[in-house]
Amino acid sequence: MNHATLAILDFGSQYTQLIARRVRELQIYCEIFPWDAAPQAIQPKGYILSGGPTSVYDQDAPTIPGFVLDSGLPVLGICYGMQALTQALGGKVASSRAREYGLAQINVIADNPLLGSQSQPVWMSHGDRIETPPPGFIILASSSNSPIAAMGDLQQQRYGVQFHPEVHHTPGGKDILRRFAVDICGTSPDWTPESIIQESVASIRSQVQGARVLTAVSGGVDSSVATALAHRAIGKQLTAVFVDNGLLRKGERQQVKKAFRGSLGSNLIVVDAVDTFLGNLRGVTDPEQKRRIIGETFIRVFEAEANRLGEIPFLMQGTIYPDVVESASSGKAHTIKSHHNVGGLPEDIQFSLVEPLRYLFKDEVRAVGETLGLPESLVWRQPFPGPGLAVRCLGEITPERLSWLRTADHIFTSELVTAGYLHNRQPNAPIQVAQAFAALLNVRSVGVMGDQRTYQQTIVLRAVTSEDFMTADWARLPDDLLGRAANRIVNEVEGVNRVVYDITSKPPATIEWE
Ligand code: XMP
Repeated sequence: MNHATLAILDFGSQYTQLIARRVRELQIYCEIFPWDAAPQAIQPKGYILSGGPTSVYDQDAPTIPGFVLDSGLPVLGICYGMQALTQALGGKVASSRAREYGLAQINVIADNPLLGSQSQPVWMSHGDRIETPPPGFIILASSSNSPIAAMGDLQQQRYGVQFHPEVHHTPGGKDILRRFAVDICGTSPDWTPESIIQESVASIRSQVQGARVLTAVSGGVDSSVATALAHRAIGKQLTAVFVDNGLLRKGERQQVKKAFRGSLGSNLIVVDAVDTFLGNLRGVTDPEQKRRIIGETFIRVFEAEANRLGEIPFLMQGTIYPDVVESASSGKAHTIKSHHNVGGLPEDIQFSLVEPLRYLFKDEVRAVGETLGLPESLVWRQPFPGPGLAVRCLGEITPERLSWLRTADHIFTSELVTAGYLHNRQPNAPIQVAQAFAALLNVRSVGVMGDQRTYQQTIVLRAVTSEDFMTADWARLPDDLLGRAANRIVNEVEGVNRVVYDITSKPPATIEWE
């Protein structure tokens, strides 16, 4: 890659991905590395040290690797990153008597190239704080509870901020990151959709040379953009395969075929693997086991297809950066869910993988899709998880339960569309619903229908607002809309006598139920 890069060393903060997204929004390339990554993996123009849950005094607290400080490159430590910098360079960190969470006002007290305006609101979230800056550092800003809210060694270009410039609640945070990246590290904003396309095309060509590539399409934005990129890169060497795994939504197989014919150019092979998937999932109720089985079955189906079509050594997937980070393939963070296309892959896979979106965030994928000229309906399609309805059908997956779920989901989403809440992009809608669906619970409850006692299943409706799907809030949908959907579901879906609405945010819940 020809871009000046910033390296973000992850000390375990929940906000590490957010730092990367903010920097990428500035059109500057950056990557996240675990704090103890091997130095040869990284060749940046500067380092950002993330926050983290530990105290520098904890046993086994992560420390700044020697090569960072030896490099002479600019460093920005955020929260724990600032404390670790202080500890490493001979300053003093103290456990703060008063913890500081939420909004604070900082006052800039020394001229510096990082912070900008004299007084600004920032978001704090810390216990420990700096008591004495390391030699060579001066205090740049203070808040009422953090006398050293920012510090810097202007000579060596090393900075620390106690607050979080990466969160929306620090309105000037993006400018602070821009000053660090551009003015201090000397990068330039060259990470544009055009440059991403150019580099991806070159990289696909150089990876696969003259060989054939199978591309796994799902109809979603990620696999469509990956396919469009590959089509541009290698044209006829590409064969697109769509697998009907029996876990699709109502009418989805036809929709994908139509969308593909309309906009993606290459041929599409549709494989009917419903019996294989449902057979492999029979009796399985554990969410992680479902994901692993689905990941493996996908690969086996693609292998069989590749063998049928002749020599195809490469499989292309639409894996994106959050899939990689969230599946914790670096082995550092907790695994929340094994994304079927990362953590769910079997070890003895016959293909080499081509993953042109592996380092892109969703908004970057969409920007690339738009630049490639894909239709808005495709680029702004709601996400649908790779394991499909399996992770929305809690408990055992049977054709009958799937069909109840499919109908309920269709009723809910069509009511949303009719009411104008689920268009692809809805600038004037009162609520921007990022994702909405039904899930079938493995709970039965008593009801009464037409004077008869019923003892049937429960549907939960989930609709969320979200910027990036990393965090989400439940959508405040109008009561009458929810009422209409619930009423139709109990009347039209055999086997369901109760509908509930999920009012949990992420965190602490996740968007999907499994
Ligand atoms: P969670 O449930 O983790 O979901 O809050 C965040 C977003 O990711 C989607 N999702 C997946 N997408 N493969 C995918 O391609 C998966 O295994 C997977 N699991 C969750 C989910 O629909 C939401 O948009």
